[in-house]
Amino acid sequence: MAHHVTLLPGDGIGPEVTSATLRVLEATGVEFEWDTHKIIGTSAVEEERPELPDDVPASIRERGVALKGPITTPVGEGFTSVNVQLRQRLDLYANVRPCVSLPGIDSPFEDIDLIIFRENTEGLYAGIETYDARLEIADSTARVTRRGSERIVDFCFDYAQKNGRDTVTLAHKANILKESSGLFLKVGREIAERYPDVNFNDRIIDNMCMQLVMYPQQYDCIVSTNLFGDILSDLAAGLVGGLGVTAGANFGDDYAVFEAVHGSAPDIAGQGKANPTALIRSAVMMLDHLNETKAAQAVNTALRDVYAAGEVLTADVGGSSSTTEFAEHLAARVEEE
Ligand code: NAI
Ligand code: MG
Repeated sequence: MAHHVTLLPGDGIGPEVTSATLRVLEATGVEFEWDTHKIIGTSAVEEERPELPDDVPASIRERGVALKGPITTPVGEGFTSVNVQLRQRLDLYANVRPCVSLPGIDSPFEDIDLIIFRENTEGLYAGIETYDARLEIADSTARVTRRGSERIVDFCFDYAQKNGRDTVTLAHKANILKESSGLFLKVGREIAERYPDVNFNDRIIDNMCMQLVMYPQQYDCIVSTNLFGDILSDLAAGLVGGLGVTAGANFGDDYAVFEAVHGSAPDIAGQGKANPTALIRSAVMMLDHLNETKAAQAVNTALRDVYAAGEVLTADVGGSSSTTEFAEHLAARVEEE
């Protein structure tokens, strides 16, 4: 039976990496029925529709699962990020971003396997902002709640336990942000007691960044609030070959949206240069979520083979192939699995 999934190709490099990903999914033989929504963000606003048309969250509510390309957010004036709005409207509180080394990528480390669990609905991205134009004073509030902290830390520990992971590290700045980061750390310590078989420690965020760059192998599962988690996940992506290879997924209790960490990359959009690996790896997470474990493994194995061979890769990871050439090559390899 086909899986019913909402498809949001997004903009910028979104449509390019999405069609590459669909090609690879097709090669697995798993059947999908896609409900595709192309008009979202800037293209929706140009048609005088809301940047997040209601039929998009409605489609995801009905199907439970979405595969999503990046969507551009105007800097400064303009609409609020559609990505953030979608996570908030569907209450997708856990943003999961694995950083796993691939062979053949030029990086100082070869054996990184860590996962960042980022709280996705509150913190400094809660959207509580004011600006006093007369005094020219801007405020952004970091809203941290007990419930919000409990559910993300619990999600992280539950994942660690179910997947045989040893350690959860909580990243915070509780020495300075005594209230918001303080609450997150306090709740984290409480939840940790419920999981005696998973190790727990915490790090202050700035030290954590230094440690991650020097000794990334010491980390396993990392959990943090929204802003810190966002920054840490780009940093960690840099350790394994960059944004072109780093997957992500957003989970709530009822819905899951699979999207890469990267944005719409306007600097390379429309040129066939984008690396679809990140979205393909997000699609692998989706296959796992849909219990298509064999297909997920087939794509993972094929990816490792293609990277190890190093002959057909995109420019961001040292190759000279286009998005489509890479996808075709990978798909052929998946078909052999
Ligand atoms: P970005 O991730 O789009 O690009 C950063 C750098 O990484 C660029 O040099 C880009 O060329 C490169 N890059 C990103 N993905 C790549 C890929 N698959 N293959 C090869 N190179 C890749 O970040 P930026 O420039 O900060 O954001 C651009 C737009 O994307 C903004 O409007 C931003 O708001 C939006 N954005 C959307 C996200 C989403 O839809 N979830 C996430 C992050 C940003
Ligand atoms: Mg980000």
